[in-house]
Order: sequence, then structure tokens, then C-alpha cells
Amino acid sequence: MKSTEVTTCDQMIVELGLESLSELRKLECVCFDYHWTEEQFRLGLERRAFYVLGYLFEGILVGYLAYSMVLDEMEVLNLGVHPDFRKRGIGRELMLALLEQCRKTDVVKGLLDVKESNIPAISLYESLGFKQVGVRKKYYPDTHEDALLYDLEL
Ligand SMILES: CC(C)(COP(=O)(O)OP(=O)(O)OC[C@H]1O[C@@H](n2cnc3c(N)ncnc32)[C@H](O)[C@@H]1OP(=O)(O)O)[C@@H](O)C(=O)NCCC(=O)NCCS
Repeated sequence: MKSTEVTTCDQMIVELGLESLSELRKLECVCFDYHWTEEQFRLGLERRAFYVLGYLFEGILVGYLAYSMVLDEMEVLNLGVHPDFRKRGIGRELMLALLEQCRKTDVVKGLLDVKESNIPAISLYESLGFKQVGVRKKYYPDTHEDALLYDLEL
């Protein structure tokens, strides 16, 4: 694990690697009904198809943010915070850490999609300046909900 930003001694944001796979998978399972497999995480991290920031509280992984970076675009792929740790600013801190990282590079645009019913996530993304730019009808395989497409000019 590589520490990217230390908030306090007990809480920090780090870049997660293959050694965190099983912890990551466990957290993903408590955050989402429809989740990535450990194999999907392993392949993605190995091939550097995406990267994962983790939020550690007293050494325990309680939040994560998976994202990709291709040329000058970043895409948020997944963001999850353990239910016992929600509404404490962790999701926001993870997003801010990613946006700060983007601003230090050549990334000029951030993209994401979110279920239309996911009010907490929509509210978080909009508060960070993401603007809705489209809708993908019945996009999600689990609920067949529409995906709202958002972007952010950096
Ligand atoms: C979405 C999620 C990551 C937010 O994480 P969090 O750590 O609880 O969020 P924060 O405490 O940082 O809150 C940041 C902002 O998000 C919004 N928000 C968070 N929870 C909310 C809720 N229950 N209702 C409405 N808005 C909410 C608010 O705008 C909040 O800002 P405020 O505290 O100033 O009001 C978390 O609810 C989660 O893991 N949900 C399940 C997985 C998921 O849906 N991920 C998103 C996939 S696109």
C-alpha cells in the first residue's frame, strides 16, 4: 500500500494493491448487492485497467474508490463506504483525494454513472460539481434502472 494522503494518525487514504484484494472484496460485498468478483479486481489491478484508493480507519478498510484513467479522462467506477461509517465525510474525502490527484496530472475531465435512485451518491457527486449530461436507459443488469451520466471539467 502506498500512502497518498494522511488525514490523522488513525485515518488515511492509501492506494490499494493486490495484497488488499480479500479486504476489498469483503467491503464491496457489504456495500453493493451486485458486486465485482475478486478475479475482476485482481485482473483490473494487475493490468492497471483501474486503480483503487482505500480509506483506512485504525488500519481497517472502511471505504474505497475504484477509478480508471485513460489519456486525459478519469472515470469513477465504484465508490463504497461501509454502512457503519457512512455520513462521516469518508465518501467525500475519497472523491476529493482523487480529484486532487487528477489536477496534478493531465486529466481534464471526470466521468461517472449512477443509478437514478441513488440519492446519497447523486447528492455527493453534484456537490462536487459533477453535471448530468445524459441518461442510459435500463443500464444496470441487477435492477434495470436508468444510469444517469455525469461529467466534471477539471
Ligand atoms: C454514496 C456513498 C459512497 C456516500 O458515502 P458517505 O461516506 O456516506 O458520504 P459522505 O459522508 O462523504 O457525504 C457526502 C455527501 O453525500 C451526500 N450524502 C451522503 N449520504 C447521504 C444520504 N443518506 N442522503 C442524502 N445525501 C447523502 C450529501 O451531499 C453529503 O454531504 P453533506 O454531509 O454535506 O450533506 C455511500 O452512501 C455508499 O457507500 N453507498 C452504497 C454504495 C453506493 O451506492 N455507491 C455509489 C455508487 S455510484
